[in-house]
Amino acid sequence: MNLKTKSCATFFLLIMILYLISCKKQIPDAAIFLVNNCFQCHYPENTREIAPSFPEIKATYMNKYQEEQDFTVAMLGYIQDPKPETMLDQTWQNRYGVMPKFAYKKEDLEEAVKLIYKTDFNSPEWKATHQKILKQNKELNPDKPFSELSKEIADKAKAELGKNLLNAIQSKGTLGAISFCNEKAISLTEEISEKLGYKLKRVSDKPRNPLNEANTEEKQIIEIFKIQLKAGQSFKTITRESWELKQGFYPIVTNQMCLQCHGVVGKNISALTYSKIQELYPKDKAIGYEENEIRGLWVVEK
Ligand code: HEC
Ligand code: HEC
Repeated sequence: MNLKTKSCATFFLLIMILYLISCKKQIPDAAIFLVNNCFQCHYPENTREIAPSFPEIKATYMNKYQEEQDFTVAMLGYIQDPKPETMLDQTWQNRYGVMPKFAYKKEDLEEAVKLIYKTDFNSPEWKATHQKILKQNKELNPDKPFSELSKEIADKAKAELGKNLLNAIQSKGTLGAISFCNEKAISLTEEISEKLGYKLKRVSDKPRNPLNEANTEEKQIIEIFKIQLKAGQSFKTITRESWELKQGFYPIVTNQMCLQCHGVVGKNISALTYSKIQELYPKDKAIGYEENEIRGLWVVEK
């Protein structure tokens, strides 16, 4: 090989590498956020319809708000505080109930809403991106740092549990859904994380199932999250890594949907529901919650 062909080959190699890097970067973070946190309900696979689809929601918003600024402000406002009165299409309430309020980071939501405005969810480009993310999801990238990977697992578990709960409540009513608020409801996330050697558990300082009682250290972490929530801060990720054990702790926050089983008896929890709960969990402590309180922790362990 002479010098010219050599430098030519190096040049092409460089172009190839640059091309590969740019391919990897093509999927915007907001798209991954949307698929991992919103699509469980808004684009459910293998289950019945749980929420209006994004194309339907987008069309409804576009009808009222043509300007990007108005569109994003209105949508962001709703997601941060979903209420029947402010629902844009009132028929959604009878069809689906109200979207549960989740503690998302504001910056993540802003990017997600911008993406909703820009994206044609029926376009081949979006469909390709969606498939890519789903594929990546099936094989959580084990090279990512533990703090990122464990957060991804906790996010997925949260959305998956939310979806399965809402689905169960919509189709079977609160009583029928009681058996769903257990770990079986997150089998998909568990399956993926187990493949990577991760363990996922839910613990609480006021457990319903005594097996889910937080240990002393977990209770301290719950107190830290309570303080952060009270101070109106966004939650700081808490991870701990020693060479034999890595742990990530993520808060579980209540929303309106939880109160029918974890709220105040007589006010949010019906007598019938509560008698069923007591029958199954005679030592139940998990009542008396209001919206936006720390209900417990996801603990991701490796
Ligand atoms: C646990 C299921 C669930 C998850 C997860 C979920 N949603 Fe929803 N969403 C619903 C349901 C049900 C409705 C329909 C009732 C309503 O409008 O509140 C809805 C409605 C909406 C609406 C219409 C608002 C309006 O004016 O009525 C928007 C916008 C929306 N969701 C965005 C999102 C985004 C963005 C995410 C992810 C960050 C998300 N949702 C995650 C269940 C969910
Ligand atoms: C339909 C009734 C129902 C609803 C709605 C419900 N839960 Fe539960 N929850 C239960 C039951 C039953 C258990 C006990 C599961 C078990 O045996 O592990 C439980 C357990 C839990 C636990 C594990 C710790 C413990 O107390 O045993 C957490 C955390 C939790 N729920 C959070 C929530 C959150 C957050 C919501 C709302 C997004 C919610 N739940 C909605 C019935 C419900």
